[in-house]
Amino acid sequence: MKTIAIVNQKGGCAKTITAINLSAFLASSGRRVLLIDMDPQGHATLGLVKDSSRIQTTIYDALTREQEMTALRDIIVTVRENLDLAPADIMLAALPEELAGAVGQENRLSEALQEIRHNYEYVIIDCPPSVGSLTFNALKACSEVIIPVEPSFFSLHGIGMQLETLDLLARKAGHQIRERALITLYRGRFDFVKAVTEEIRKHLGDRCFKTVIRFCMKLSEAAAHAMPIADFSSRSSGCADYRALAREVLEQESPALAPCTFKGVAEETSSRIPVREMKASPPVDIGSGILFTLEAPHAHCVRLAGDFNGWIPDGNEMQSNGHIWSKIVSLLPGRYHYRYVVDGNWLSDPLNVDIEPAPWGGYNSVLVLEKNNPPWASRA
Ligand SMILES: Nc1ncnc2c1ncn2[C@@H]1O[C@H](COP(=O)(O)OP(=O)(O)OP(=O)(O)O)[C@@H](O)[C@H]1O
Ligand SMILES: [Mg+2]
Repeated sequence: MKTIAIVNQKGGCAKTITAINLSAFLASSGRRVLLIDMDPQGHATLGLVKDSSRIQTTIYDALTREQEMTALRDIIVTVRENLDLAPADIMLAALPEELAGAVGQENRLSEALQEIRHNYEYVIIDCPPSVGSLTFNALKACSEVIIPVEPSFFSLHGIGMQLETLDLLARKAGHQIRERALITLYRGRFDFVKAVTEEIRKHLGDRCFKTVIRFCMKLSEAAAHAMPIADFSSRSSGCADYRALAREVLEQESPALAPCTFKGVAEETSSRIPVREMKASPPVDIGSGILFTLEAPHAHCVRLAGDFNGWIPDGNEMQSNGHIWSKIVSLLPGRYHYRYVVDGNWLSDPLNVDIEPAPWGGYNSVLVLEKNNPPWASRA
């Protein structure tokens, strides 16, 4: 059982949206998942349960000293296949005061989890926007932390502080916690946002997820309908991004992990490609579209720009399997020009010998798609 807490003392940075959609994607990959709502606001509960007034007992009942008899398994509700929820409501706000001064109060959650540890592969904990005893209980119980970060003027400073706080708490908790930042609410059309994002990635290196969660109103709408994004809008960027995040999390399970699929979720052209053995090549027709690949193991962000997407790299991020970056694009027969934008540098495809000088300098790679012919077949 892997326990991941979604933590940031800053409010509104997408902790709950991340908790809900990461849990739902992990569940649809076949993993048994428990989402624990540790926020008295109960947003994760509201975001998954349509009629929350039916909920009788909550995580409060499983952690309070008042009702020792309520076990964690008794308050859990199943919200869909493979996905269970330990719900919360405002009662949870009373818990820190009730537990104050009690011996081992910060271990309540990790102790409660012991009895169900064989029931789940993943436990995801949605934390409140504070560093009080609810968050500390989550940190004591988890081995990993995801810190959602909205790129903003303060986030560079904020993320440094957050990591320091977590290091301190992890030391106090007495165990190693792997922390990784996740860029959320990304509005790539603003240069400032791009600059801050690059800065965060440079600063954090592999302590930052490669996946970036773009700003997508559908994510808010889905939560308002008490649905994960895959059920509400499977073609939205929010769906593609959280699917990519789930893949990145699943890739940590074992280097030999087979490509994972998500049950009942249509694949998006912008999603990450989970094929570990993939080799870079010139663009190739794979039936569902044209597969673009680039070997760039040390890059933080690779995007695809061409005349087929208006030469706009934003929103055309490629997905990495740690070594090869890839993206599938649906293209009609025709002649196209493209470049890879590697950490902001516009490069022609090193594996494509067909290049043309670009009006703005340098060379564009050329791709010719002929009717009924796979690309490159006629060009060899
Ligand atoms: N990628 C996104 N695009 C657009 N809106 C988003 C995105 N992610 C989250 N939101 C919206 O931003 C708001 C804050 O998100 P969320 O509730 O997940 O943040 P939070 O960190 O859990 O907040 P709190 O600290 O209050 O618990 C919500 O209205 C949510 O629907
Ligand atoms: Mg929240």
